Formats: sequence, structure tokens, C-alpha cells
Amino acid sequence: MPKELIVLNAGDPDAEAPQYAINEALKGIIEGGKNTHYPHYTEYPDQFAQAVVDYYKRFAGVEYKPENVLPAAGSSAALYVALAAVLKEGDEVLMFTPYYAGHKTIFDGMGVKMNMVPLKAETNYHPDVDEIAEHVTKKTRAALLCNPANPTGTVFTAEELRTVGDLAVDHDFALLGDEIYLHYVYDGHKFVSVAGLSDEYKKRTLGIMSFSKSFSMTGWRLGYDIVPEKYMQRARLITSLVAPRPATFVFRAGIACLRGDFQYVEERRKEYERRRNYFCKAVDELGWPCHLFEGAFYAWFDARDTGLGSQEFLKRLRESQNLALSPGNNFGADGFIRVPLTQPVPVLREAVKRLKAFKAGL
Ligand SMILES: Cc1ncc(COP(=O)(O)O)c(C=O)c1O
Repeated sequence: MPKELIVLNAGDPDAEAPQYAINEALKGIIEGGKNTHYPHYTEYPDQFAQAVVDYYKRFAGVEYKPENVLPAAGSSAALYVALAAVLKEGDEVLMFTPYYAGHKTIFDGMGVKMNMVPLKAETNYHPDVDEIAEHVTKKTRAALLCNPANPTGTVFTAEELRTVGDLAVDHDFALLGDEIYLHYVYDGHKFVSVAGLSDEYKKRTLGIMSFSKSFSMTGWRLGYDIVPEKYMQRARLITSLVAPRPATFVFRAGIACLRGDFQYVEERRKEYERRRNYFCKAVDELGWPCHLFEGAFYAWFDARDTGLGSQEFLKRLRESQNLALSPGNNFGADGFIRVPLTQPVPVLREAVKRLKAFKAGL
């Protein structure tokens, strides 16, 4: 068995935050005073909200007001706030499968039933738009759009978003837009924010955003919701109960990111693209179908031919090859394997070598 364990199971980028963000946070810590005490006594939450407004206008073409921005320590907290602001036990949500495991965990915890539209390899993980309406019920209170999607990388088209948006308007339900991978799109695919397509959609869309992926700031815990008027009171209440506020020096780092030149983000995007181009092709050539994903940074391959199921596949892979990947059954697709491309190409090469050896030994 190879000696060194390779871990590719979490979406935690192998990079530090941009230097200008680190400098700004350090400045805040060293200055101390209001920078290191309760954040709401400072101007930084307001400056942060304005920076978010300018950023969303620049990158998503959507115009918000600073009062729509609700920061939280990490988008996982922001996610809970958004979901709990519009849904309660017994409600139903329209979503797509395979899905991000973190979404399901919250819905399960809340007692919300998920009605899933399948995304299939045959259609490159895009939905059949004519099928979406079949998954709306009398109890549907929201649709969740993870765009670009984890784990399939789907970058939803304007037509697909409009199909869901029109259903939301016709049946009067909310739209939940988890857009934390918006910068990571490839091959000319274009990120479109559902809220930017019509004012009617915008009025009912809660946006969920994070610094974790775009700026490799998973450990800084910085995220936010963008909440329309209609849901703000409830979202604020839930935030005050369960969502920790980001630290002031972290707000300062976040502002530096959003006001930066985005060279850093473009370099990360190109790096993930390089990894994708190598890894997906190599795994596909092993005989496990692995599409060139359109967005985010997860390879997603079909190992159902082994008959092992995701958990058993990964258990044996770890035991024989010292390689840890993430199981597709956590994302609603048993027999599939997810590989966050959070290591450089030489490590991915070694991972492919081990997958090949594993396959030969089955
Ligand atoms: C789609 C999606 N939303 C939200 C999160 C949570 O990110 P964080 O809490 O680090 O901001 C993740 C993390 O992997 C994710 O993939």
C-alpha cells in the first residue's frame, strides 16, 4: 500500500486567502480596540454590506440595498438562516439531485420534505425543463438552486432558472440561491443569478454567499445572506438566535476581497480548470465516466459498474491504496464518487495511479 495518505474528500481549497485580505485582518488585530470587540459598534458591518452590494452588481448584475445584506460567520450559518426564514416543519422544497449534503442535513433537521428533480449524466447534469413542474406540490414553499452546483458542477442556464422562477411566482414560493461557486465556471459557461432575471424573482430570492471557496477562506468563517424585504424580519430574528456574527477584523478582510482586483480569484479559477482538464479525462479513461464539469471544483464519477456502492468502494480504496475520496451516496447518488480538486495536478496524478491500481485489483 502507498505510504502517504492522499485526502481529497472536502471542498477546502489548498491555498491561503489573498495577501491583501490577510494584511487587512492583521492590521485590525494589531490596532485592536473596536476591531477586536463586538462588531456591531463599528462602521465595518455597514461598509461590508455596501461592498457586497457593489460586488453583486459587478459580478451578477443584480442591484441590492445594503439593508438586504445579512452577514454570518460562514455560509453554513447563513444557509440555515435562509432556509429557516422561509421553511418550517411539514413544508416541501423543490431541489435537484445529486445535491449538496449540507442542504439535505438542514432540511432533514427541519422536517422539510425534499422533492428532487433528477440531474442525469445523459443530459450533462442539466434538468429536463418540462419535468420540473411535476415536482411542485401544494406544500412547496421554496426551490433551492445551487448554482454552480456541488457536486455536479451544473451551471444552470437562464432558461432553466426562468422555469423555476416562473413556478415560484405562479405558486407563490421562495427561491433559495446558493451561489457560493459563482466565480468558478469554465469553457465559456456563464453564471446567471436567478434574482437578476426579473424583479418578481428578486423579490422572493434569498441569496447565500461565502468567502470560503472564492478566496480560500474556509477557516475564516465569513458568509452572508441577501434577503428580500418580505423575509427580513424573520431572517434577522433567526440570525440573532443562531448565527454568530463575524469578527470585525474578518469583516475588514472581506471588504478588502470584495474591493480587490479579483486577479487572485481568476488565478484560482484557472488552476481548478487545469486540474479538471487533467483529472476528469484521466478518470474517464479508466472506464469510470467522469464528465468535464461546467462549474465549481468537484470531479464526479460513476463507479456503479463495480457493484460496490460508494461506501464499500471508498473503504476498500482507502485500505488498499491509502486514498480518501467522498462518497456519492451522501449526495444522493450511491455508486458515484466525488473528488474535490483541492490538490495540485502532481497529487491528482498519483491519485489516478492509485485508482488504476485499485481497479486492476477488483
Ligand atoms: C454549495 C455549498 N454551500 C455552502 C457551503 C458551506 O460553505 P461555508 O460554510 O464554508 O461558507 C458549501 C461548502 O462546501 C457548499 O459546497
